[in-house]
Amino acid sequence: DYTPTKDDKFSFGLWTVGWQGVDVFGGPVRPALDPVESVHRLAELGAAAITFHDDDLVPDDATREATLERFRKALAETGLGVEMATTNLFGAPVFKDGGLTANDRTVRRYAIAKVLRNIDLAAELGAKTYVLWGGREGAESGGTKDVLAALDRYKEGLDILCSYVRDKGYDIRFALEPKPNEPRGDILLPTIGHALAFINELEEPDRVGLNPEVGHEEMAGLNFAQGISQALWHGKLFHIDLNGQHGPRFDQDLRFGAGNLRGAFWTVDAMLGAGSGRAYDGYVHFDYKPPRTEDIEGVWETARACMRNYLILKEKAQAFRADPEVAEALEAARVAELAVPTLGAGESLDDLRAESFDPEALGARGLQFERLDQLAMEHLLGVR
Ligand code: GCO
Ligand code: MN
Ligand code: MN
Repeated sequence: DYTPTKDDKFSFGLWTVGWQGVDVFGGPVRPALDPVESVHRLAELGAAAITFHDDDLVPDDATREATLERFRKALAETGLGVEMATTNLFGAPVFKDGGLTANDRTVRRYAIAKVLRNIDLAAELGAKTYVLWGGREGAESGGTKDVLAALDRYKEGLDILCSYVRDKGYDIRFALEPKPNEPRGDILLPTIGHALAFINELEEPDRVGLNPEVGHEEMAGLNFAQGISQALWHGKLFHIDLNGQHGPRFDQDLRFGAGNLRGAFWTVDAMLGAGSGRAYDGYVHFDYKPPRTEDIEGVWETARACMRNYLILKEKAQAFRADPEVAEALEAARVAELAVPTLGAGESLDDLRAESFDPEALGARGLQFERLDQLAMEHLLGVR
């Protein structure tokens, strides 16, 4: 009946259910939510873990210790874990030109200090993933940002953070979260592909992977399932942010399953490794914003719905993969043949050149892809 359990490894950011609805056009529509309340409600709903930015949990030093004490107690009472943590390097005015890539060197130094402090807390609470979303790392205009220097500083920042974690002996890996724009006009490392290439330039590339978000890739007009599949291929899908988006427009952060539903189906299929056999084994993390139309009960409805939609889509994707007619259609579409190397073992290019090809016959052949896709569609629509 699609009721989540801890084995489903669902997790939520404190900032998601705790979003008060502040946007560019209006102020808060919901009262502040106590993180302790979120822990209890999410645990009741079947989540396994929560995640947070430093400022979501410990916004000020005066209340820090008392807050942490209540928070640790709530975790112990519910059995909820902290699987990931991150730093708010975007909200405060000091970060208006970014954190790790701000032109102002003093701002960069402050940003690193802020990250280090929260990494210590993340390690203490047991988080294994530390996300870096560089929402303010970017520019609105061409001349104001030396992009090559900014990438040097981005790399320097990551290298510092990696060596810190190594020196401390923390069991933590970093996950970069790409986004093309918003809040900056143009953000550095805008897509999965850009971030993957950047990781190769770091001192410790093995410690750094990705936290791709559905909506962010779709804002760039890209296919999320293909993007995470490539991240999996590189061994870089460290974490994931699931939500919903209707094509290229502002970051909608809808609940998972809303927006591009077919995209969500193939996303879950990719996460399960159904196509390639290489599955995602991390936490299934939701990063969405309950719309401003909802009161707090509506917020819990949306959290429940994120998990429920994932479980429904998981069942649909598994049924699709187990369907004998799908197996036939896959065969007809030669999908498995793509796993066969183009040159056989021991074969040379001379063997390949010696083969007599009939490109006209090959070109005339129908590939029967539509039949396969229609079967997926019918599974998704619930008629199979
Ligand atoms: C956004 C981002 C953020 C990050 C979060 C964790 O578009 O607002 O998705 O929600 O995921 O800051 O790094
Ligand atoms: Mn987002
Ligand atoms: Mn996100």
